Amino acid sequence: MHILITGGAGFIGSHVVRHFLTRYPSYTITNLDSLTYAGNLANLRDVEGMTNYHFVKGDITDADFLMSLFHEHRFDGVIHLAAESHVDRSIASPTAFVVTNVLGTVNLLNAAKTCWQSNVEGKRFYHISTDEVYGSLGNKGMFTEETPYDPHSPYSASKASSDHFVRSWHDTFGLPVVISNCSNNYGSFQFPEKLIPLFINNIIHNKPLPVYGKGENIRDWLWVVDHAEAIDVIYHKGKTGDTYNIGGHNEWSNIALIRLLCRIMDTKLGRAAGESEKLITYVTDRAGHDLRYAIDSSKLQRELGWVPSITFEKGLELTVEWYLSHGEWLSNVTSGNYQHYYEEMYAGR
Ligand code: NAD
Ligand code: TYD
Repeated sequence: MHILITGGAGFIGSHVVRHFLTRYPSYTITNLDSLTYAGNLANLRDVEGMTNYHFVKGDITDADFLMSLFHEHRFDGVIHLAAESHVDRSIASPTAFVVTNVLGTVNLLNAAKTCWQSNVEGKRFYHISTDEVYGSLGNKGMFTEETPYDPHSPYSASKASSDHFVRSWHDTFGLPVVISNCSNNYGSFQFPEKLIPLFINNIIHNKPLPVYGKGENIRDWLWVVDHAEAIDVIYHKGKTGDTYNIGGHNEWSNIALIRLLCRIMDTKLGRAAGESEKLITYVTDRAGHDLRYAIDSSKLQRELGWVPSITFEKGLELTVEWYLSHGEWLSNVTSGNYQHYYEEMYAGR
């Protein structure tokens, strides 16, 4: 079994690569990543020496390159995670999201279709997507696999578009696809532009914690290791052509989550109770900010038997401990490009 994982140097991708390499030593895993600001080979240092692992630096927006990669390697499966993934960046520079998330996905679909056309038996194209394609919920209800798409940000619109293309390659060309839509992930190796690692880093450095709007927006958080396990289950047992929602039934308003994070950080850093909360600063809300996400993952639990393994309180504590014990990783990724981005993003808020 030879699987191509795209975006394997990113946050979730690196967990998926590690999971497949260690759980399935007989598989060959090729990690294709163009190493944007979000891609970091240090995320895979512990597994990069494994003989069944290969890294290829390449861009999914390059159709010719993809076609020759597929012809050279004859992959049995694709797990596609490569994407531009940050909503705030998609508001600042939307075009990169269309190019990578939409065109890049279509290039991959084309390469798989061309290479597999003689025989799709045993093949699988697994597209990793987000719950943000469903839009925003009010106070009640959850996203199911039947919820109509209603994306609001350039990021979620590009992911929604890519999901439609993946389904169309199944319906039109018979490509054996499967899709999952997951809620917000947290855990080790997440780039500190996303809420949890950004705030951990700012607390360490006594910098303000920029809470958008009133902090009342709600997200449904899942530990990234549980997402990787769900991806394994869906890759091996999911029904071709189907969609699976992944989530931990774990809704938190941003402000409640931030207060919990501040309490954990105070304890771990040996600071007085309430010290980190003083850094909370309310800033201008994100444009088009979705109010609430909540995932109904009962189909995945019922049909494929997946369940999350850890409570949020425990997962968040493990996550804080990881960032505190990986100061070098954090300072490496918070220098350079990122510094510049941070100054621009928060300057006017
Ligand atoms: P990330 O930004 O941490 O990583 C993305 C990776 O893709 C990086 O390694 C980057 O170098 C690579 N990449 C970007 N453009 C590329 C290109 N043109 N060619 C090749 N590689 C390229 O993202 P993440 O948070 O790990 O998300 C991974 C996937 O999971 C994305 O598709 C995202 O939409 C989806 N997802 C993320 C979350 C979340 O909470 N982070 C939740 C649900 C779904
Ligand atoms: P984020 O981690 O960017 O994930 P997403 O937008 O994909 O859900 O943001 C999570 C929530 O935290 C979201 O409601 C926006 C909010 N947020 C802040 O309040 N301040 C920040 O600096 C960031 C990055 C996010």
